[in-house]
Formats: sequence, structure tokens, C-alpha cells
Amino acid sequence: MQNKLLAAKAALPDYDRTKLVPRIVHLGFGAFHRAHQGVYADILAADHGSDWGYCEVNLIGGEQQIFDLKQQDNLYTVAEMSADAWTARVVGVVKNALHAQVDGLESVLAAMCEPQVAIVSLTITEKGYCHSPATGQLMLDNPMIAADLQNPKQPKTAPGVVVEALARRKAAGLAAFTVMSCDNMPENGHVMRNVVTAYARAVDEELAAWIEQHVTFPSTMVDRIVPAVTPETLDKIEHITGVRDPAGVACEPFRQWVIEDNFVAGRPEWEKAGAELVADVIPFEEMKLRMLNG
Ligand SMILES: NC(=O)c1ccc[n+]([C@@H]2O[C@H](COP(=O)([O-])OP(=O)(O)OC[C@H]3O[C@@H](n4cnc5c(N)ncnc54)[C@H](O)[C@@H]3O)[C@@H](O)[C@H]2O)c1
Repeated sequence: MQNKLLAAKAALPDYDRTKLVPRIVHLGFGAFHRAHQGVYADILAADHGSDWGYCEVNLIGGEQQIFDLKQQDNLYTVAEMSADAWTARVVGVVKNALHAQVDGLESVLAAMCEPQVAIVSLTITEKGYCHSPATGQLMLDNPMIAADLQNPKQPKTAPGVVVEALARRKAAGLAAFTVMSCDNMPENGHVMRNVVTAYARAVDEELAAWIEQHVTFPSTMVDRIVPAVTPETLDKIEHITGVRDPAGVACEPFRQWVIEDNFVAGRPEWEKAGAELVADVIPFEEMKLRMLNG
């Protein structure tokens, strides 16, 4: 049966989706990721022949978004709202979608342990890091972290799941992956490295040393306003495209992504879709802060 989204009045994924390889596992299939990282990847596949595909995962919350995505062959609509017109594209780069509590943690860990996985990226909101924003350090007394440390093979938190996936890759003799935070926090890569290495040290010192040696945590600066989706947003998208898409999102036309170019197992050529690959994101964060304060 023809997927209803492929009849949308929108830019459609006219690349061969069967050729996409899920080399990125993304934790946090929320509104922002759909309109930000998903669009960069879709541009690369559509205009530059990229075969980088995604496995989308929600760990906590967002069951409906994963369900809706699966129902429509992992396609979803992104509408850009400008003052005079809305334009839409159907994003086709998602190969697989999983929810830890619906599909089971084992299926998530298996996806993260596929040999070709090069990057695990995250948009899980600040609280997903289980850290103290004041110090940037993991809160070992956070009840969810404490529970994961009691039972590290069955974690629920993002730090716990990332560390267990890396432990399994190490045990299987597989290469590590890059861990890339795309949450809106200063020096998000440092925060992620702090929580992952602190959690790993509490589980197994040798594993922590392996992670420190083999995993990188590039910081990123992300920007694009993606309002929370309401029924009115979905009505508006349907009005433009002619198709009801419960996984659709609408966003501002502007998008920005500055990424520290420090990847252990390769990365898509995001610069071809307008991202800036840099040695250090801190000057960009400082510039943005000065502009906001100004
Ligand atoms: N929406 C925007 O305009 C915008 C702009 C820039 C950056 N961001 C960043 O994107 C991130 C996500 O925002 P959004 O708009 O997609 O929100 P959202 O509510 O649409 O999605 C939140 C996502 O986080 C996951 N999540 C929530 N709590 C979690 C936890 N404790 N552990 C693991 N996963 C958890 C959910 O499963 C969901 O996938 C935020 O950190 C925000 O800083 C958003």
C-alpha cells in the first residue's frame, strides 16, 4: 500500500531509502530533533547522496511519537513557517524506531551494538543527564541513577543505557561510537562526558578507562525554534500538505548547528547541509550569549 505521506504536497524523499544504513542511534525523538538533525540528514540524503540513516529511540516518555512514526513507515513531515508561506518536507532518513519500554531495552541495546553504529546522539532535555547543572557532575544520589547502578545491565537512564551499550561493544570486541549531545546546554559534550565517565567508574573502572580512551563527546551548539506540537499545528500542516501526520512538526526557517569535529568512527558531511564543523564550540556559545544579552 502506498504510504499516505508519499502523497503529501511537500518535498518528498526521492532518494533510495533502502540504501540508508542506520549508523546513528538517536536518543530523544522529540520535536526538536525531528526539525533539526532530521532535516540536516534529509538534505544530505536528498542532495548529496548520503546513506547515513537513523535508528530513533525514546527511553522515557514519547511512546506515542514512536508509535506514530512506525505506523507510517518511519516518515514524518517538517513544516517551515515563514511570515508569508509555510513549506513542508517529508523526512525519510529514519530506518527504525524503538521505545525502550514498549519494544524492550534489549532491542535498544541491540540497535546500539550493531557494528556499523558510529554515533549515538541525544536530545533528551537537561534532566535526562541526571547531573547537577551547577557543577556539571553526575548526581550519584539521583534515584534513577542509583537504581541503574544497582542493576547496570538493565538501565533506564540515558547515561546508564549509553554505558551498558559501550560495555557490550567492548565485550564483543567492537569499536566504540561517538556520543554527541544536541541538548541546549553550554558545553553539552563535557556534561555528557562527565556523566558517562562518572557512571562508568561506578560500574567498572576498566570500562571507564576504555571509554575515556575510545569515546569522544563533541559539544554542539544547536538553534532552531520548534514549538511544542499542538492539534492546531497538525491542522495547519494538513492544510498545506493535504495529509494528516501525527508525527509532524513545524519550525522557524532559521537553523544553526555548530559541531566540534571530533568523531571516532566517522560522521555525515553535515557541512554540506549548512552545519559548521569547528575545533571548539565555546567561542560560538559565547558569541550567541553576547548577542542574546545585547
Ligand atoms: N524545541 C526547541 O525549540 C529547541 C530548540 C533548541 C534546542 N532544543 C533542545 O532540544 C531538547 C528537546 O526538546 P524538544 O523540543 O524536542 O522536547 P520534546 O518534549 O518534544 O522531546 C523531549 C525528548 O526527550 C526525551 N526525554 C525526556 N525526558 C527524558 C529523560 N529523563 N531521559 C531520557 N529521555 C528523555 C523524550 O523521550 C523526548 O524524546 C531540549 O533539551 C532543548 O534544549 C529545543
